[in-house]
Amino acid sequence: MAATTATYPATFTIGGDLTVNRLGYGAMRITGEGIWGPPQDHAESIRVLKRAVELGVNFIDTADSYGPNVSEELIAEALHPYKQGLVIATKGGLLRTGPNQWPVDASPKHLEEVLHGSLKRLKVEQIDLYQLHRIDPNVPMEDTFKFLQKAQQDGFIKHIGLSEVEVDQIKKAQEFFEVVSVQNMYSVDNRKWESVLDYTREQNMAFIPWYPLSGGNKEALAALDSLAKKHGATQQQIALSWLLHHSPNILLIPGTSKVKHLEENMKTADIQLSADDMATLDKIK
Ligand SMILES: NC(=O)c1ccc[n+]([C@@H]2O[C@H](COP(=O)([O-])OP(=O)(O)OC[C@H]3O[C@@H](n4cnc5c(N)ncnc54)[C@H](OP(=O)(O)O)[C@@H]3O)[C@@H](O)[C@H]2O)c1
Repeated sequence: MAATTATYPATFTIGGDLTVNRLGYGAMRITGEGIWGPPQDHAESIRVLKRAVELGVNFIDTADSYGPNVSEELIAEALHPYKQGLVIATKGGLLRTGPNQWPVDASPKHLEEVLHGSLKRLKVEQIDLYQLHRIDPNVPMEDTFKFLQKAQQDGFIKHIGLSEVEVDQIKKAQEFFEVVSVQNMYSVDNRKWESVLDYTREQNMAFIPWYPLSGGNKEALAALDSLAKKHGATQQQIALSWLLHHSPNILLIPGTSKVKHLEENMKTADIQLSADDMATLDKIK
């Protein structure tokens, strides 16, 4: 018997009120090498952002640390005043000391400074979704969470999310505020956070995999290649499609600095994987 076609919802509602297309855009790659300084091609970065919105992206992920500041500034330059319904999610909690260096600082003092910097750079009065980039091992979690709770009560943040966290840390944060999203590294060949994905689905939180395209281990590459040929698609489109089919609370933020790649990634929406295709990819470790 032919395998049935797996289907999935096209949108997800964050925090009960922000409905977004599940195919979003990650704005980390529109900076210089090592996610440091301005991009090599400023005009192309602006084109990528404008084209993303034209193609239906209404969820963009960024952080004060991308550049630092560069990604948020480019988003405002390309897209402000923002189209109604465009959700911009930013993050705080990392310092930048040089290319590819990301020391953690989730102290209230640092978060206060970067949150207000993000509001200014993004030209908004409230951040739609503010994500704690990392839990800081040198700062009591309660101090960080109390800061976020207060910033939300003061109206600077609409919704709060976390990044690279375990289930127990999410539960601890839930004692202070509603956690609406979790952004952890996850892809077809990197399932370390499967238990976190399960927890977020149960709790109706968005799960936002970072590095969704991954490098690909040998087994993953072979499976992605074979399914790409079958569907007349690229390996990247199959990797993204697997995520869309895998769990309805997954929001995608593939990152690219090129319009060509952005357009290819957005075509993922045209791909329907069969139950057999999904079973092949589900087996990859
Ligand atoms: N929470 C966190 O700690 C964390 C960490 C890292 C990233 N993030 C977020 O997650 C987003 C995605 O992660 P990521 O950018 O690291 O990984 P990714 O989206 O899996 O991969 C991005 C890489 O893939 C390339 N690429 C994209 N589309 C392609 C295509 N169609 N064909 C061939 N190559 C393609 C890009 O190069 P080109 O520029 O040449 O297209 C780039 O080098 C980031 O933009 C950022 O918003 C969050």
